[in-house]
Amino acid sequence: MKVLLLGSGGREHALAWKIAQSAKVEKLFIAPGNAGTQNVGENVDIKADDFEALKNFVVENGVDMVIVGPEDPLVKGVYDDFKNDERTKNVPVIGPSKSGAVLEGSKDFAKQFMKRHNIPTAKYETFDGTTVEKGLKFLETLKAPYVLKADGLCAGKGVLILPTLEEAKKEFKEMLGGMFGNASARVVIEEFLSGIECSVFALTDGKNYKILPEAKDYKRIGEHDTGLNTGGMGSVSPVPFATKEWMQKVEDRIIRPTVEGLAEENIEYKGFIFFGLINVEGEPMVIEYNCRMGDPETETVMLRLKSDIVDLFEGVAEGNLDKRDIEFDERAAVCVMLVSGGYPQTYAKGYEITGLDKIEDSVVFHAGTKMQNGKVVTNGGRVIAVSSYGKDKSEALQNSFTQAQKIEFTDKYFRRDIGQDL
Ligand code: AMP
Ligand code: GLY
Repeated sequence: MKVLLLGSGGREHALAWKIAQSAKVEKLFIAPGNAGTQNVGENVDIKADDFEALKNFVVENGVDMVIVGPEDPLVKGVYDDFKNDERTKNVPVIGPSKSGAVLEGSKDFAKQFMKRHNIPTAKYETFDGTTVEKGLKFLETLKAPYVLKADGLCAGKGVLILPTLEEAKKEFKEMLGGMFGNASARVVIEEFLSGIECSVFALTDGKNYKILPEAKDYKRIGEHDTGLNTGGMGSVSPVPFATKEWMQKVEDRIIRPTVEGLAEENIEYKGFIFFGLINVEGEPMVIEYNCRMGDPETETVMLRLKSDIVDLFEGVAEGNLDKRDIEFDERAAVCVMLVSGGYPQTYAKGYEITGLDKIEDSVVFHAGTKMQNGKVVTNGGRVIAVSSYGKDKSEALQNSFTQAQKIEFTDKYFRRDIGQDL
């Protein structure tokens, strides 16, 4: 069959790598893709949110299935757009409907959903421009640090954690005053939870679900979790505290109630659910939902998925995911992200990347790269993910760090402490 994958980051290269291994796939297109995805499929020069152009491409090229990588097209309703068009209504789109993507698109909706279905999460309240005084009073009832979240999508920047009540009150007013534009017209204030985070992923057909290997990502730019937040500097799977017993709690208290809750509320959801969890004294709680896979978690999770991912996607499309097998690789997998110097603030692009042909024993996923005059050049903050297997986490990390040294570009930076806290 012919498959079209939407997106252009490291997550999409990892998904493309896995999809391309399926015996069921005769042709893989990636729109728009990057310099790495062209090694496992054919890049198509269409943006992931240009629905008209995507639909035309699907019709003209006889594409049988569309898989959505990033949240943006999902929140904008790519699933519904394909479904509501006579020409593409029978082409399955792997990803939730617009109403399902609201789990990620609105923090307030996600919190209300969890409350309705008794899913463990931090205590919270939501405020807007008409309830500023109430919000300030609510802050006074909480303990430091204070967590403020813009309701809408902010490219990962909409959460502020403030050490003092004074700062929290100031930032709260600024958020409602338009700090993140319309995305912060409503602000969720919630209780701070203390613990280690863990990303858990499920694939659902709306009724059945399969749980994928869990992973931990490293968000801060600096070693030992210091400095600014990034899109993610590396990831590790498995996560030692995610024992069988802990994952059973996650399934019983979080995953199953979420999938059943979506079905009860008639929210169409056929795709990945990303549970951003925190382990609070042994008990899993939800920090956030995302309606897609994580990046850079996908760059390790795909290594640990043994089964044919396209077979699982067919199960999603046909509503018989319960009939499909899912198997994991018992080895550990890690990902170390090579980024542009200056990221996540300003950085230069267009530097030539060399050494990619010298990589052994690791899988290199391109994140921000492109082809320029026949050369691979940097084209983003996160540039290359170096993913490796190992009999354990240490061996996998050793492999990634060894290979990471071989890849060169001006001002390359990576964290050397990925996985060391686990
Ligand atoms: P989010 O976009 O909701 O994932 O928030 C971004 C990051 O802020 C999370 O990955 C956590 O590290 C942190 N965070 C969010 N909510 C809380 C909370 N209630 N308690 C502690 N940390 C939080
Ligand atoms: N790694 C976190 C995310 O993809 O949102």
